[in-house]
Order: sequence, then structure tokens, then C-alpha cells
Amino acid sequence: MSFVTRCFTPADYLGARSLWETTDGVGLSSADEEHAILAYLARNPGLSFVAEDKGNIVGTILVGHDGRRGLIHHLAVAASHRRQGIAKSLLDAGIAALREAQIEKCHLYVFEDNANGRAFWEAAGASRRVELALYSLPVAAPLS
Ligand SMILES: CC(C)(COP(=O)(O)OP(=O)(O)OC[C@H]1O[C@@H](n2cnc3c(N)ncnc32)[C@H](O)[C@@H]1OP(=O)(O)O)[C@@H](O)C(=O)NCCC(=O)NCCS
Repeated sequence: MSFVTRCFTPADYLGARSLWETTDGVGLSSADEEHAILAYLARNPGLSFVAEDKGNIVGTILVGHDGRRGLIHHLAVAASHRRQGIAKSLLDAGIAALREAQIEKCHLYVFEDNANGRAFWEAAGASRRVELALYSLPVAAPLS
């Protein structure tokens, strides 16, 4: 099976969204609406990638940074295309782009029950941060 890895462009949103909606382990929220993803891509130009096979999006990675550390979201590969190095290729592209941006380390989230995702990240050399707990704080104003 052949695939190409290339930059994630705004025109890729619908194909990517369709992949995310059918992929276990990808959590979706209001931050994944089209306007939010296009804003994310504009804020982090050249850092996110897709894998394409015969014109279809079969893999994605969203990569951004805050000027200090990188953050990876939505690494996903279609079930029909797994274990062929697509995620590795997407990650390599994202890491190279972060390095180019002078970022030395990046973080990522994996659901605790996602054994395949955790196996991938461990094989990729990522370290689990058992000393840290993740907290989230809402910023949007409460609805009145
Ligand atoms: C995790 C995921 C992205 C891996 O994609 P992939 O294209 O199949 O991964 P690769 O082929 O690049 O795998 C590279 C290496 O990672 C490891 N790996 C990948 N999937 C694995 C699995 N299911 N079990 C064990 N090891 C795995 C292997 O070491 C593999 O090398 P090998 O095939 O030579 O043994 C894919 O399974 C997926 O989309 N899962 C659902 C979404 C998800 O969990 N995303 C990650 C959490 S953010």
C-alpha cells in the first residue's frame, strides 16, 4: 500500500474529521469544529500533517507549540492502513517541524484505556509522566 505524507491544509478538514469520527481513541470537542481547526492551522503553520492514499485522508497528526513546548493531538490512522508505518511517518514529519521551530520537547495525551495508542507512543520512545496529573480549567464564560 502506498501513501504520501504532506502538510495538513484547510481543505483537508472534512476528510480528517471523517477519520477522527470513526477512530476509537480520538476525543472530539468544540475545539474540533472547522473554524477552530482552521484557526489552529493558521496559528501553527507547517506543523500538522496528513497521510493520503489515492486521494483519501488515511492519517492525521495535529502539532502545535506555545513557543516553549510542543503539543500533539489527533494522531490517527485508518484501521485499514495500520501497522505500515503511517503514524511513524506523520510523527517524524511533526517532530522535524518542531525541531525546525527550535522546540526541544513535546507532550501528548492518550486515554488510559487506549492500549494500542500507548503501545505506539512507547515504541516511539515517549516517556509516561507518572509524576504528573493532568488538570483542565474552563476558560469560556459560563452561559447565563
Ligand atoms: C496508534 C496508531 C496511530 C498507530 O498507527 P500505525 O500507523 O498503525 O502505527 P505504525 O505502523 O507507524 O507503528 C509504528 C510502531 O508502533 C508500534 N505499534 C503501533 N501500533 C501498535 C499496536 N496496536 N500494538 C503494539 N504496538 C504498536 C509498533 O512498534 C510499530 O512498529 P511495527 O509495526 O514495526 O511493530 C493507530 O493504531 C490509531 O490510529 N489508533 C487509534 C487512535 C489512537 O489511538 N491514536 C493515538 C493516541 S493519541
